[in-house]
Amino acid sequence: MIVTIGVVGSVNLDLVASGAPLPQAGETVTGARFAQHPGGKGANQALAARRLGADVHMIGCVGDDALAEAALALLRRDGVDVSNVMSELGTATGVALIAVSPDGENQITVASGANSRVGPSDVAGLPKCDVILAQLEVPVTAVEAASRAAMETGALMAINLAPAIGVPPQLLKDADLLIVNEIEAEFYGDALHERGGLVALTLGGAGAALFKMGKEIARVPAFDVQVVDTTGAGDTFCGALAVALAEGQEPEQALRFASAAGALAVTRAGAQPSLPTREQVDALLKEG
Ligand code: RIB
Repeated sequence: MIVTIGVVGSVNLDLVASGAPLPQAGETVTGARFAQHPGGKGANQALAARRLGADVHMIGCVGDDALAEAALALLRRDGVDVSNVMSELGTATGVALIAVSPDGENQITVASGANSRVGPSDVAGLPKCDVILAQLEVPVTAVEAASRAAMETGALMAINLAPAIGVPPQLLKDADLLIVNEIEAEFYGDALHERGGLVALTLGGAGAALFKMGKEIARVPAFDVQVVDTTGAGDTFCGALAVALAEGQEPEQALRFASAAGALAVTRAGAQPSLPTREQVDALLKEG
């Protein structure tokens, strides 16, 4: 069964320094290794869904600089439809400066650039989808337009509330699925649960849980894997959960599928280079 996912979100180029301790404010650390990968929460989630077998359409914006093609390279290579990713004249492609510690934790600073040009009218480019998935690295007005499009077309609306920022309460109420980590869950508090839709909470090494109206309806433990780099693991979880729910998987099965995908993503360096294939996720699920 091939499902269709529309992603409204960011496209970045990730500049990564790994292997040195994370610096404190005002501190300089040396000895890191450098790498450059395509990233951005929107693009990562789009590619995650694509590698898991979905047809994926991306709405986003890059600059007219030399970084744009590098940022889109893996989306293009793996067959995400990027025909509605705009290129904005005189604007810089989004860049994320990422430090990864020896134990795989990260710090990320994003220079949004062209991502801040994504607007409500861009969302009109989305075809009919089973799920529309958005995050908060593009303007909230675009996410609201995505939510309206989902309502009009009968798509399931999923929002990964990352990074945590203030949003209109109606946006949360209208979403069928909100996906948060522990930091985001604390930021949004009760507003997550005072609504009819689902809430997926990722708990890092403690697994993940799914709630409906404040009541836990599923929980899965974390898979036991070697952590190399946690960058993009949350995005992988989001893309995978969108695919699983679109396929009609039961809540607990969908949560387990998304957790397995997220677990595989932490075993490799980089965001997009670490996204697993369907076969890899199925193999991990079989192993347990
Ligand atoms: O979630 C990881 C992503 O956050 C990185 O790829 C980076 O681009 C930032 O958007």
